[in-house]
Amino acid sequence: MTATLIDGNAVAAAIHGEICAEVEELKTKYGIVPGLATVLVGTNPASQFYVRSKQKKCGEVGIRSFGYDLPETATQEEVEGLVRELGANPEVHGILVQLPLPRHLDEKRVLSAVPIEKDVDGFHPVNIGELGMKGREPKFVPCTPAGCIELLDRYNIEIAGKEAVVLGRSNIVGLPVSMLLLKRDATVTICHSRSHDLPGICRRADILIAAVGRPRMVKTDWVKPGAAIIDVGINRVDDPTAKQGYRIVGDVDFEEVKEVAGYLTPVPGGVGPMTIAMLLKNTLTAAKRAAGLIP
Ligand code: GUN
Repeated sequence: MTATLIDGNAVAAAIHGEICAEVEELKTKYGIVPGLATVLVGTNPASQFYVRSKQKKCGEVGIRSFGYDLPETATQEEVEGLVRELGANPEVHGILVQLPLPRHLDEKRVLSAVPIEKDVDGFHPVNIGELGMKGREPKFVPCTPAGCIELLDRYNIEIAGKEAVVLGRSNIVGLPVSMLLLKRDATVTICHSRSHDLPGICRRADILIAAVGRPRMVKTDWVKPGAAIIDVGINRVDDPTAKQGYRIVGDVDFEEVKEVAGYLTPVPGGVGPMTIAMLLKNTLTAAKRAAGLIP
């Protein structure tokens, strides 16, 4: 069996089109331009790349972006002060603090300074708390987890009642995607580096979310035939045949697993573009809420 490829680029492009049209309507009907502020502390090359990509995509859909790059040495007070200032700025509808922050900064305090109505990354402790609770809805859902669910939905992959296994327990992906799957009535197992028999646990999955940060870790014998596999990994591996000397691979051994899985996301071109699409969507939602157009 050969898996159906889940095309994140195509889904993200469709969402960008939908957002573009809505942004245009907001501007012409109400004179509102959605605005996203990005806060980047330090010079982590991957973080710089992600933030630039987010700003570029904002420009493409007509969202105004406000970029704040602070030095590695920025103090807790400086970062929190900036976040509070942005919180009070009516032109800024969403605030994104790129993670990870340098080690001397207290991430929890910085993220808590983002007003929840501008928390387009969904990382404020209150939003995460609401995500985890039955009968409660967060104002925003973290972007990569939301992108994973959107891909399943757009490919009509049923979630309710299915066995979902999440490999990885990070605050950014593993934990929130588990909570989202639970909200959608999946039976959820979270496994990680200390779990016994990872292949056996993953083999139970009708839906497997791989978010562990280990290149090509998930092999054929980890996969139930026909399973839907969402690969969140972005890992650099040496490749002397590539122009830059490396290439990007996921947490799933794509070449092997595509022969067994029912659905599979490629890396790149799977979850990656969805993260930005969900961020743009959240920013648009924040702007519409600020204008009182939606609850
Ligand atoms: N670092 C890795 N992924 C993300 C993300 O989705 N948002 C932020 N703010 N930082 C990240």
